[in-house]
Amino acid sequence: MKFIIQLSLLSVCLFSCEKGLDDTLILKTSGEVAKPEELSAGISTTFMSSSKAYDQPASWVEDELLTRFTTGDALYDDARTGDDDPYTGGMGPVYAGYSCGACHKNAGRTEPTLHTVGGSGKYNFSSMLVYISRKNGAFFRDYGRVLHDQSIYGVEPEGKLSVTYTEETKSFPDGETYSLLTPHYKITEWYADSIRPEDLNITVRIPLRHVGMGQMMALDHDELKKLAEQSNYPQYGISGRLNYITERGVYQIGVSGNKAQHADLTIELGFSSDMGVTNDRYPFEVCFGQVQMMGMAMNGIQITTRDMEDVDLYLHSLGVPYRRNVNDETVKKGEELFYQAKCHLCHTPTLHTRPRGAVLLNGTKLPWLGSQTIHPYSDYLLHDMGIGLDDQYVSGLAQGCEWRTTPLWGIGLQEKVNGHTYFLHDGRARNLTEAIMWHDGEGQVSRELFARMSKEERAAVLKFLNSL
Ligand code: HEC
Ligand code: HEC
Repeated sequence: MKFIIQLSLLSVCLFSCEKGLDDTLILKTSGEVAKPEELSAGISTTFMSSSKAYDQPASWVEDELLTRFTTGDALYDDARTGDDDPYTGGMGPVYAGYSCGACHKNAGRTEPTLHTVGGSGKYNFSSMLVYISRKNGAFFRDYGRVLHDQSIYGVEPEGKLSVTYTEETKSFPDGETYSLLTPHYKITEWYADSIRPEDLNITVRIPLRHVGMGQMMALDHDELKKLAEQSNYPQYGISGRLNYITERGVYQIGVSGNKAQHADLTIELGFSSDMGVTNDRYPFEVCFGQVQMMGMAMNGIQITTRDMEDVDLYLHSLGVPYRRNVNDETVKKGEELFYQAKCHLCHTPTLHTRPRGAVLLNGTKLPWLGSQTIHPYSDYLLHDMGIGLDDQYVSGLAQGCEWRTTPLWGIGLQEKVNGHTYFLHDGRARNLTEAIMWHDGEGQVSRELFARMSKEERAAVLKFLNSL
């Protein structure tokens, strides 16, 4: 009760501050007034650029919200175990990661083992999700959707991923060279029947950065619909569209995931499918029905709804790092070139959140996320990115070649936060240049405009990206 009163008082305050938000002075940690172009997410902008930059609460997270944020943060990071401890247990019997934070280290993108150990590795924890399906899109009865390459003691992992790359070296018109890696996947050590490679489709995803999760959940869907209608630039071959999916029995717009295949922050799915922790939305173990589980006791619900709501609150309330070096001449030049190369037609610099903000699973309202001007550098729409990136995997309306424009906010801090510069849905790009040079299909014009720039101009674009 106390909590609700507190919230409504705050929203009154917010309403009055909101009207004059543009004149509201937001102070940086240093005490200086923030410049408008530094504010990535309005009042949720945080002013840190260290390895913890993605993992800070927004400034409005106080009192009881802060307590729940801290609880959610711990539930997100603490390694789960296979025992039946109600707080930390319930993992497995098979799983892909032992905590959310194992794959999303510091609320970021844990370095995948693809390039270092060539796939899952024997003992390594890989941090990626491997989706397997028949060529016709159906799932394998004994395996389900995700290949769980880890397991608790006494149980076999479902299989291991191995990857090899073919490398092709190319050159820009000005002679500078770059090279692109095409991945080839194989599953080894199937726990049960081997699946014929002719009938197997494998698609690999590295984790996404958790920058702007609350803002993504508070997006103004009318604005997105308008963008989908208008984001049609035949002269550049660009036309984005929204993904629609059925979740919790409702046909709705998808925003999260690499194919915008989810409508929420996938808390229950993450616990169930990625970690093997059952919950009220997914009460069955992911390996339920597998031959090796016959006769094994199933433990019922392994994480409470209350705990998952705290994780949801934690993700919604993370601040978005401010833009850095906004006055640097090269960064400014790079920003201009970003527009000239038409990157902004998909990586939309500015969007707005709906007035009421976000509402959590249990009804907790987060009005601070409402009516904000935000700079995600994404339209959250699907685009055909060409055959090179086609994974033959359909998610809702998204076809194999279609991907959600990855939001670029925070991208410049990925190396500091996670210690690597692997990009794209499957981490095949080893740096920003390779990520851009993989753009094809609707991204072809942009790629060519970028390729035709001088070396200095390309470097300026990268410097601009690194200021996000
Ligand atoms: C095994 C590693 C792994 C674990 C464990 C994991 N994730 Fe993820 N997460 C991923 C990958 C990979 C993706 C990208 C999936 C895709 O697009 O298909 C992702 C995507 C997401 C997204 C979408 C972000 C966006 O920008 O749209 C959210 C939210 C998320 N995870 C939350 C969680 C939460 C909460 C947990 C814990 C309950 C969790 N994840 C556990 C690997 C993991
Ligand atoms: C047609 C829409 C479109 C255009 C135009 C476009 N992009 Fe993208 N961009 C995407 C999509 C979709 C992805 C995700 C592809 C994937 O993961 O396979 C992406 C991914 C990226 C990534 C990797 C992000 C990450 O964290 O993995 C970078 C960097 C990037 N784009 C930069 C640019 C730049 C710079 C330009 C202009 C030269 C540009 N893009 C033009 C749609 C576009």
